[in-house]
This record gives sequence, C-alpha cells and structure tokens, in this order.
Amino acid sequence: MTSTFQLEVLDLRHFSARQLRPLLEQESRLWSERLRWDYRSSADLLLQYLDARVLPGFVALDRGRVCGYIFCVHEGSKAVIGDVFAVADASSQPTVDVENTLLTHLLEMLQNSPNVSRIEAQLLLHGEGLHKRPFLQNGFRIYPRLFMECEVGAGAADASGGDGAAARDQADALVQTAPGVELRKWSPEDFTAAGELIQQCYLGHLDSRINNQYRSVAGSLRFLHNIVRFPGCGVFDAETSLVLHDASSGGLIGLLLCSRVRQDVAHITQICVAQNYRRRKLGKLLVQECLGLLKERGFSALTLTVTAANRDAVALYESFGFKVAHRFDAMVWDPEEA
Ligand SMILES: CC(C)(COP(=O)(O)OP(=O)(O)OC[C@H]1O[C@@H](n2cnc3c(N)ncnc32)[C@H](O)[C@@H]1OP(=O)(O)O)[C@@H](O)C(=O)NCCC(=O)NCCS
Repeated sequence: MTSTFQLEVLDLRHFSARQLRPLLEQESRLWSERLRWDYRSSADLLLQYLDARVLPGFVALDRGRVCGYIFCVHEGSKAVIGDVFAVADASSQPTVDVENTLLTHLLEMLQNSPNVSRIEAQLLLHGEGLHKRPFLQNGFRIYPRLFMECEVGAGAADASGGDGAAARDQADALVQTAPGVELRKWSPEDFTAAGELIQQCYLGHLDSRINNQYRSVAGSLRFLHNIVRFPGCGVFDAETSLVLHDASSGGLIGLLLCSRVRQDVAHITQICVAQNYRRRKLGKLLVQECLGLLKERGFSALTLTVTAANRDAVALYESFGFKVAHRFDAMVWDPEEA
C-alpha cells in the first residue's frame, strides 16, 4: 500500500464486483456520451472477472471511498492495459491525477515483472496527451490515434440521403469496376484465411508496432477471436461484416469486420485489403456496402479508430464523410525495440 495525493492504492483483487459497480456505472455513462458506446456488457464482463479475483490491477481509495481503478491482462509475455478510470468529487484530486497515480503503480509493477517483456495500452476513452507523463517517464512510445464517426445515410455516405438501397447501388457500381472480385458477407469459414490476410496486410505497417498480434498469423487469429467470438469490443455483426474473394483463385483478398457497440451504432473493428489489390477502390467498396447494409438495418452511425499517421486509411474514411470526434493515444513499451 502506498500513499500519493492522500490516496490509498490497493490491489484490485481485494475488491468485489459490488464495490466497483458504482464506478463502472459512471464510466459507462462516459463511454456513451463520448463514444456512443454502450459499455454495459463490457462492464458486466469485467465485473465477472473481478468476482473471480483474476485481474491484475489497482484500486484508488479516497478516504475509504473507491474513486478509481486500473487493470491489465496478460497475453504470453505481453501485458495489455485494459482500462484506467477515476472520478473526482469536490474535495478530491482531479481525475487525471488519480488515473496517472494508478498508471504509475501498474507500470512499476509490470516493468519489474520478469515475465513481462512488452506492454501495450490504448486509452480510447481518454483525450490525447492527458496521460502521457507516466508513459514517457517509463520509456514508452506514444502513437496518436483518432476516433472517427459518420452518420449512416448522411453526406458522402449516401449522397441521396435516401434509404440503404441508394448506398447499395453505389456499391454495385463499384463492384462493376472490380472485375474478378466477389463481395460476400462474412462466414465463419473465412476465419483462418482472415487471420492470414490480416498478418499479410500489416507487414511493416505502423499498426503492427502498436499491436504486435498483427505480426504473426497466430497473433492475428487471436485478435480475430477477440473480435468475432468475444463480446469485448461490441458484439460482432456477421450481417454487416464483409469479405472479398478473388473469383479465379478463390483466395481472400479483403475484409471489413463490423460490431454493434450500441443498439443503433456500429463500429468497424478491422478493414484491410491485400497489398497487390490496393488502390482499386476495394476499400471503398467494402465501406460503401457496409454503410448500405447498416442503413437497411436501421443503424444511425458508424464509428472506427485509426492511427493518425495512417494517411491512406484516413483519406478513405474522409471520402465517406467520417469526421474526427475524439483523439486518444496508444502507448507501447518494448525494450527490445527501443
Ligand atoms: C486502408 C486500405 C484498406 C485502403 O484500401 P484500398 O482498396 O487500397 O483503398 P481504395 O482503393 O478503395 O481507396 C479509396 C480511397 O482511399 C484513399 N486512399 C487509399 N489508399 C491511398 C493511398 N495509398 N494514398 C492516398 N490515398 C489513398 C483515397 O482517397 C482513395 O480514393 P481514390 O482512389 O479515389 O483517390 C488499405 O490501404 C489497407 O488494407 N491498408 C492496411 C490496413 C489498414 O491500414 N487498415 C485500416 C486500419 S484503421
């Protein structure tokens, strides 16, 4: 136990779901306001893990009142910081100070663990630069990222402003410009080929520095497993997730994965096109078709995250009218890559 800003910081595994629930309810409200994300199912999952006392992390207490928490998960020798969140009241320190205190504790613990060789964090809920101090002090690299959103059926997404059929017509027109390419809905049979495609698409890519799962087929399959079979990043929506096949070889050459993050909001969790097929408007075709399907299914918005320096992808999204709604940071510590 240590004391900073008159806070007590204790091991997360001393706390039950019941003690953390009010804090998670406040956090869920912020996810909804800031990112249009219904965080309640993720919070419920987290509460189950808390009751199982398996999550490494810390809780901040202000005069006995739970005011913040942080947790991480381990994937082999990598630790991923899952979340940090704190609330302020009139008499307590500003929230960011409490969060930075929690981060300092967790980073110290992880960097002194012999079995941890890499740490990754993406603080999606929190604004760019707010938590950079503990990370920079501890040798992390920081990668600015964007949270973008687009109203389904508005602006460039569906120039007619009409129903999903108009967007689908535009997608059909794009299909005509891509002979030899088949556009289909996602099927579970695509799973293994999708892992291979993701690994190929991210060879030498900036995002593989942020998430090292992209560097191997096994890692890409784990990433895919978390997206498709696990409700951690919204609920995977097979009806609006798409794949592109080369008609002659049958090989998978592109995909777009979409999850439902709120009743009427979808989120692109992955989009990629094989290197040899880029700049043929296949990325555009995937987004166009997805928007048409979302419109037909009554969604009102589509969101995504992208690394700010990934100009190709940002240009693609901007061409559909996606706007930056929020900026956040990804952080990586890996002494072998320093
Ligand atoms: C991003 C990606 C999916 C784009 O796929 P693509 O099929 O090459 O894109 P398109 O041909 O449909 O391009 C559509 C628009 O995007 C923009 N764009 C795409 N690639 C671009 C590039 N290399 N340079 C500049 N603009 C680019 C352009 O506005 C383009 O429209 P235009 O051709 O009329 O100029 C592809 O580059 C990719 O798989 N990258 C690696 C994975 C990745 O970064 N995914 C996004 C993670 S958030």
